[in-house]
Amino acid sequence: MLTAPMKNPPWPLPGSRAPAPPAVPSAEAHDVSARIDAVAAGALFAGRAKIACLAAELFEQPHLGPLPTARAIAGSPEVARRMIAVANTVKYGAGIPVTNLEAATVRLGADRARAVAVSRLIGDILAATAPAELRFDSFWRGCLVRGCLARALAMNAQPGLAGEAMLVGMLQDVGMAPLAALDPAAYAEIIQQSDESQLRLAILEWRSFNMNHVHVGLRLMTGWYMPTLVVEAVGRHHTNPPLGPTSDPAIRLWQIGYLVGTLPVEPSRTPAQPDATAIRLLETAFQIGPDRIGRLLQQAAEEFEDVSGMFDACVAAGGAPCDLLAPAAAALGAGPARLTGGSPVFTGHDSHEQHQRCDDPAANREALAHADAVSVL
Ligand SMILES: [Fe+2]
Repeated sequence: MLTAPMKNPPWPLPGSRAPAPPAVPSAEAHDVSARIDAVAAGALFAGRAKIACLAAELFEQPHLGPLPTARAIAGSPEVARRMIAVANTVKYGAGIPVTNLEAATVRLGADRARAVAVSRLIGDILAATAPAELRFDSFWRGCLVRGCLARALAMNAQPGLAGEAMLVGMLQDVGMAPLAALDPAAYAEIIQQSDESQLRLAILEWRSFNMNHVHVGLRLMTGWYMPTLVVEAVGRHHTNPPLGPTSDPAIRLWQIGYLVGTLPVEPSRTPAQPDATAIRLLETAFQIGPDRIGRLLQQAAEEFEDVSGMFDACVAAGGAPCDLLAPAAAALGAGPARLTGGSPVFTGHDSHEQHQRCDDPAANREALAHADAVSVL
């Protein structure tokens, strides 16, 4: 299985704004593309009918209202049942029971209902195809933590992208499951060697398999007909984004995906030092300085409490949200004890760097095209 890595990615990302590829792809491109197809095939076809049908209904039109959202989700009875149950939990209920899916969708918020419904279906499929060595329930819990952080970031920066951001955070690493199934023992070793660094993980995957979880994830996401903006951001989630604030949704989702992708989510692996790069991006792109990091983490913890009931079948039980977010909090220089209430206090830096806004369409197109050319390592 182990082969020498290629020098350059031979194909553009799906939906890429990069220049068109050559009319006749090289034999090497055909070979690598075929091998990615083969790796993704199991999970892709196991879930294609269910996931693609739901995604097509939910995302064909932007900002679908609660009623059509509920109608689409009703086609997946287990997801629908779970959503009504979650909408009736103490934190939502307020003593007024919800008895139908439309009311549950209104209570959860249509954007969030769409994101968790599709993610729940995807989690079910991946859980059935992932090898035991991946410890899928822990892996998927980490994905959920990233999704909650991503949604909290979007709510602070561009609330209209909250649903897409949640999908980018939660689904950015779906390619890991089929890659792990390729050689479970070797993949477990790679995870160990990556030492909780997602970027290091992607590089080690590349060296071992001549592809990484970004390639496989993109193949899955496009095959499941996920929204183009989400697919593109997943493809860029390990490529440095522009640093400035922006209203461009593609740039914003890129920033969100990259930031949550750099943060540790394994509860047992709290970093010894804050991540200066992540703290800097948080401040320059999102204008979230030290005085607001605690609040951001609190929002992510509340988000986790709100939606984790949707995933109880395939997410590892145990661990309060503040504990699950403790490694990310440490990376951002915040103390985990502050997540459960009180004023956020942390020991991060206190600079207030300003960066030019990323709202020049031509410059953004160039940055996105460049990212797509390099983001698959
Ligand atoms: Fe990743």
